[in-house]
Amino acid sequence: MRMIKWQNGTVITPDQTKLPLQEVTLEIQTVEQMAEAIKNLRVRGAPLLGAAAAFAIAIAAYHSNAKTPLQLISELEYAGNTIKKQRPTAVNLFWGIDRVLKKAKTIQDNIEEIKNKVIEEAQKIADEDAQNNRAIGKNGSPLIEDGDTILTHCNAGELCAVEYGTALGVVRAAWEEGKKIKVIADETRPLLQGARLTTYELKRDGIPVTLITDNMAGYVMSKGLVNKVIVGADRIVQDAVFNKIGTYSVAVLAKEHNVPFYVAAPTSTFDLTRKASDIIIEERKAEEITHVGCQQIAPYGVNVMNPAFDATPLKYVSAIICEKKVFYNKDFKDFKKGKI
Ligand code: MRU
Repeated sequence: MRMIKWQNGTVITPDQTKLPLQEVTLEIQTVEQMAEAIKNLRVRGAPLLGAAAAFAIAIAAYHSNAKTPLQLISELEYAGNTIKKQRPTAVNLFWGIDRVLKKAKTIQDNIEEIKNKVIEEAQKIADEDAQNNRAIGKNGSPLIEDGDTILTHCNAGELCAVEYGTALGVVRAAWEEGKKIKVIADETRPLLQGARLTTYELKRDGIPVTLITDNMAGYVMSKGLVNKVIVGADRIVQDAVFNKIGTYSVAVLAKEHNVPFYVAAPTSTFDLTRKASDIIIEERKAEEITHVGCQQIAPYGVNVMNPAFDATPLKYVSAIICEKKVFYNKDFKDFKKGKI
């Protein structure tokens, strides 16, 4: 299913904060609406953020009344900066904006042509992501054996991408090949992407899934109930994989229990000119920790830490599956060269 669509100046996408209880469709027509949707995780997940950010520039272009190409480009840059301010960690957001702006700047003198190129490029980003995720599934599926139980963290499924998913794309591909597999989904505190989204889409597709709380990951591994871990990524740098907070703990547990730890992500998530120490980890509001839904669970005024992501050093990663190939741990030394 396509998670994000362009329809004559409107971006259509599910409101992921309402799932799984309500299926609400957003119709986004302004850059501000897209910024709000991204900030509040109505639209989320690294590859989907790449497409959504690109479509935000397409919205700015489509609705612009600019009188000169220069004015239009400056409006598009303003829109890009507005979107870039919403979430700092997932690199796809920056990548999507920069790619569309670069395309816009190849045209010097024709406003309509700039608008068309921007919309076309955003659409291309979405189409490529859909294809890439199927390729990730195909490349990753041989790593999955019939009978495997796979633990995943957060949601790296259809809902995080334009179609099919990355980590869950691998699961889907293996399932479609007839492998009898099961998934264990970490609930993923504080925003519960695992409990709300991963279980929702797997259950809908008939792929067996069991929900656990995050602090049960060690228990299930110690009992031999997990054969593989697969997660997505928000940014892959020279020495680490950034993904949802809690991924690092799962990776350390996997190493302790000799469970392969795989990361599935498109090359648009690779940022190999940077190291882990260069990356800003998004800090989100305290209420996400002090409250569950609308219910306060912690004392008023308690100090809270709420980093949305963590960095897993590459020594814990068995392989990274992208649309081009599988990089095994021995290949990671090449990441230091700054490109793949
Ligand atoms: O805060 P979120 O929900 O945007 O975080 C998403 C994740 O951390 C995913 O695991 C990641 O984007 C990979 S999705 C292919």
